[in-house]
Amino acid sequence: MKKWIVRLGLVPLLLLPLLASAESPRQLVFSHVVGPDTPKGKMATMFQSIVEQKLGGRYQVVVHPNSTLMNDVEVIDAVAAGEVHFAAPSLSKFAGYTSRLKLFSLPFLFPDMAAVDRFQQSEAGRGLLTSMQDSNILGLGYLHNGLKQLTADRPFHEPQDLAGLRFRIMDSPVLRAQFEQIGAEPVPLAFADVYDALASGMIQGQENTWSNIYSKNFQHHQPYLMESNHGVLDYLLITNNAFWQGLPDEDRRMLSYAMDIALRYGNSVATAKSRNDHQDLKRMREVTVYRPSEAELDTWRRAMQPVWAEFEEAIGRHLIDAALAASKPSAGER
Ligand code: LMR
Repeated sequence: MKKWIVRLGLVPLLLLPLLASAESPRQLVFSHVVGPDTPKGKMATMFQSIVEQKLGGRYQVVVHPNSTLMNDVEVIDAVAAGEVHFAAPSLSKFAGYTSRLKLFSLPFLFPDMAAVDRFQQSEAGRGLLTSMQDSNILGLGYLHNGLKQLTADRPFHEPQDLAGLRFRIMDSPVLRAQFEQIGAEPVPLAFADVYDALASGMIQGQENTWSNIYSKNFQHHQPYLMESNHGVLDYLLITNNAFWQGLPDEDRRMLSYAMDIALRYGNSVATAKSRNDHQDLKRMREVTVYRPSEAELDTWRRAMQPVWAEFEEAIGRHLIDAALAASKPSAGER
């Protein structure tokens, strides 16, 4: 330490920031890419307010929505590096870290969200939460958004209607293969860039959930929507494993409690939003929402399903079987 600091008696001043930081709450960063009025946005805000109520003096959750801090590919790396505490990227975006989560991108795997939920809560589903621990990423739980729908700037009913069109995809080899199967050109883009890419005509189509389409106004440039329900867009809530395990037990317990409530709330928002945003889009005069017949859906299924065989080995047959088993309601639910 510089002698003049000691001579002038300034040492206590130097210690001030340390004392202040010991007293001010520890900031926990939660970064995501959607708006605050979405299932994920509302879940993050709920988590923030429960932490504020229960652990306010010691922790403060700072939420960065709408890709204001970083995009999803960057945030997964940042969580692995311990630079961001929480994120909830789409399950389709983890291909750089594990092949097993590719399961969730397989087209027409789950018939509805109840089946998705059953699988996620099953032993096989819960086992996937720890599938990236080697990379210091820990899954704390699943969050729903909903089933994906296809949209385009022109009418379409059959897979061949999309041939040659450029379709935005989340960065996922399975989704790339899915669009290649139907002769469309997949274009991986960050969520924040989709609206502009649609507006400029750089891409002609995309797939997303009702709430993502509606909250980002994709319908402005995608007036043709199909109730295809051909895949799921759900999230994995992740944290940095070393950070999480390094927390005092009581704090970890309280943060888990807050997260659990926030996830349950987020899931109920997802169900309501999916229904309401779907209805609102159907009511718009400038938008056409096409409901395919069972026979038409079968054509889409047959066109896309060869993707399963391509990724079966990487994912693991046992996981595909577990997901298929969860597709059938249990006796008590029927
Ligand atoms: C997308 O990129 O389309 C989604 O993952 C965005 C999101 O987080 O719902």
